[in-house]
Amino acid sequence: MHSMSVVIGGQWGDEGKGKIVDCLVPEVDVVIRYQGGANAGHTVKVGEKKFVLHLLPTGILHEKVRCLLGGGMVVDTWALLEELDELKANGVDADSRVYLASSAHLVLPFHRRIDELREKSLQRKNIGTTGRGIGPTYEDKMSRMGLRVGDLLLPDENLRRLVIEKVLRANQYLAARFDAPAMAAEAIGSEIVEHAQRLRPMIVDSFDFLAPVRAGAWRALLEGAQGTLLDIDHGSYPFVTSSNCTVGGALTGTGLPPQLIDRVTLVLKAYCTRVGNGPFPTELHGEEAEALRQAGHEFGATTGRPRRPGWFDAVAARYAAEINGATEIALTKLDVLTGLEQVKVCTAYTLDDKTIDSFPADAAQLERCKPVYTELPGWSVDFSAIKDYRELPENARAYVATLEKLIGCRVRYVSTGPQREQFIDRDQAASVQNRSLGTA
Ligand code: GDP
Ligand code: IMO
Ligand code: MG
Repeated sequence: MHSMSVVIGGQWGDEGKGKIVDCLVPEVDVVIRYQGGANAGHTVKVGEKKFVLHLLPTGILHEKVRCLLGGGMVVDTWALLEELDELKANGVDADSRVYLASSAHLVLPFHRRIDELREKSLQRKNIGTTGRGIGPTYEDKMSRMGLRVGDLLLPDENLRRLVIEKVLRANQYLAARFDAPAMAAEAIGSEIVEHAQRLRPMIVDSFDFLAPVRAGAWRALLEGAQGTLLDIDHGSYPFVTSSNCTVGGALTGTGLPPQLIDRVTLVLKAYCTRVGNGPFPTELHGEEAEALRQAGHEFGATTGRPRRPGWFDAVAARYAAEINGATEIALTKLDVLTGLEQVKVCTAYTLDDKTIDSFPADAAQLERCKPVYTELPGWSVDFSAIKDYRELPENARAYVATLEKLIGCRVRYVSTGPQREQFIDRDQAASVQNRSLGTA
């Protein structure tokens, strides 16, 4: 039994973190998102129902689990209330199990507007953000000008005035930088007060709230958003998000001590995708790309944008495993590769006529990297209902073994489809088959 697990995306996001967290949640008492905001889109399929979570930790789909939006997050209260209402409409009463760290920052409508206008002004050099105001909110946090979730506890009139002050300051910037019209300060101030009235009971001091985790009474799962290669420090800057998606972010974004971490599950998709701009050495184009996009339904869970597909990049995956200290891998979407005659894996890059096997986080260097591939034979047998790893087609197992060797880390979990039950735990095949899968 683990006291603290961290689940981290090992590629450019959308690896299937939501699905893996959902499968691991029955083992824990609290799930904590530690960074990012409503830029995330974590999908879980339960029977005919599909849940896409943007701000709430995926644990919310399990009845007894508490969920904390950690201090490292940026919280858009408009998006949060919409998400809570949507869950309620689908029979999940989340309000009583959601906790908001008072130190998390608030995304305000002008952050979204600045994000959008800045992207437009960059034209073809834009990052391709999700437009959720993530960068501008983290900027305000770092420049110590931000509003925090804890500010929602102020008396209504003080809160309203504080928000109006922030909007008026942002209006000056919008006018000077983009010649953009002013935003309605009074209206935004009043809306935030309304949001505060509903959200106040959920706000906690996360240090106090997490005391049972430190005392060993609660098992915690820390849910990463985005992926290692989108990390502000360790990704291909500037084509990254504005937070630390990697294991360091799990510590700063929760305030929990490193010694408690006894499991780091790196989620890797059996091929790669990227949404937004930036270098992507194994990217496919044309018909091959379209076939993989269609087979894997690779369209953004947040923005609906088509994702850019490519072959599995073992150089990048090894980098992600090492940066995060991965103790195990959860491999998703292996089923999507079924039916291909051959499957390629990138084992090294050529960069300026040299062969390298380390991942350059510098975007300009990564842009010049050309993949060196090894080709493996494909498989054609549908295994999406199989629960025992040994029953996978031999070539699929050989593919997994090749990845393990190249990455230097064991694949413990294999996800064989979007549904909850389509999940193999190589260590506990039998007990997984029989366990109760929570509610929702
Ligand atoms: P996340 O952001 O990392 O949680 O991933 P997303 O939810 O954005 O994207 C993953 C997509 O793949 C979702 O539509 C999932 O329902 C789906 N998915 C997850 N695991 C599997 C799998 O093993 N096989 C298939 N076919 N789909 C999967
Ligand atoms: P999940 O948690 C994939 C990408 C955007 C853009 C860059 C910066 O579902 O894996 P931002 O809006 O964060 O300033 O955009 O990061 N991006 C994601 N790509 N999955 C995500 O989240 C992402 N969140 C942000 O496309 O390239
Ligand atoms: Mg996603």
